[in-house]
Amino acid sequence: MSAMEQAEKTCGEIERFYSEAETMIHRAKSSDEVEQIRVDFLGKKGKFSSILSRLKNFSNEERKLVGQTANQLKTRLEKNLEHRKSLLKEQELEESLLKDSMDASLPGVHFPQGALHPIRQALREAVRILELAGLKAAYGPEVEYEDYCFDRLNFKSGHPARDMQATFFVKSSQDQSLILRTHTSPVQVRVLMDLAKKDFPIPVRIQVPGRVYRVDDDRTHSPMFHQIEGLVVDQHSTMGDLRAVLDFFCRKFFGDKVKVRFRPSYFPFTEPSAEVDVSCVFCQGEGCKVCKQSGWLEIAGAGLVHPEVFRACGWDPQNVQGWAFGMGVERLAMLKMNVPDLRSFFENRIHFLKAEGGVQ
Ligand code: PHE
Repeated sequence: MSAMEQAEKTCGEIERFYSEAETMIHRAKSSDEVEQIRVDFLGKKGKFSSILSRLKNFSNEERKLVGQTANQLKTRLEKNLEHRKSLLKEQELEESLLKDSMDASLPGVHFPQGALHPIRQALREAVRILELAGLKAAYGPEVEYEDYCFDRLNFKSGHPARDMQATFFVKSSQDQSLILRTHTSPVQVRVLMDLAKKDFPIPVRIQVPGRVYRVDDDRTHSPMFHQIEGLVVDQHSTMGDLRAVLDFFCRKFFGDKVKVRFRPSYFPFTEPSAEVDVSCVFCQGEGCKVCKQSGWLEIAGAGLVHPEVFRACGWDPQNVQGWAFGMGVERLAMLKMNVPDLRSFFENRIHFLKAEGGVQ
């Protein structure tokens, strides 16, 4: 075969490759496939390159012929590859946009938001109202001396009233037993003893919000619960003042329609003593299951500070008078939020907490 014939044969080969490539490009279904065709034909080890590497065997004239044909078809092929690739890419983009498309009318992702526990909310509300009545918050420890929790509050040891408050003992010792405080009243003792050292400044007007503990567990009792103590000491403080403050508190807390009544009662550290009831919020005093048909619900104990308490704290009961109350915060919350079982506050059921705590 002559050199020219060889060259022409090579040109024919190039043309075949070209049309083979064209067919493949036409059939290609993805831009990746097109890229593969490019590599196969125009890549370093591709079909065109292997032919072009043979160019050196030709003389000038034949090389020109083969080179021209090769370059022409290569350029055309490159153009066609590029064109097909960009077309397919566009289609692919369109498809993926359609697949991942966003529906702006769908509801958004909900991020849950926390809220204060319902008891904490009730406690804060109560503290806020009592602040309006002039009572400043004071605090004391939850692990308390038995002496402050009972003895100085006129519960003598062996006094039957001590059994009224079933106690968790922390550490028993002969002179200083430690217990979990059963009420917030020991903070009365702490404040009065402290002020005795400061020359008895009056008036004393405090409230004591906090946790207390008793060995108790049923629908209306939990071993840990919250109280708010109130204590006012002045030259003359009367049962009338006490009533006025509790009336004010209840109206603010439960609403204007609520009625408040005092029932005679007994606490070792107050004399006289009273139990404070509010008209049943469930039946407005008509009588229902919750109030056991009485129309009233108990929320607090109260009374005038017993002279023995003043004495035990270093004060002279001749010079001052005081009143005090202790309210159950869970009781307040149950009544305000219409929750019949106190234990639901402590079971940490998210549905309950959401409903009562206002979590969205
Ligand atoms: N500390 C009493 C209790 O928990 C309540 C109370 C406080 C009664 C203050 C009178 C005065 O039962």
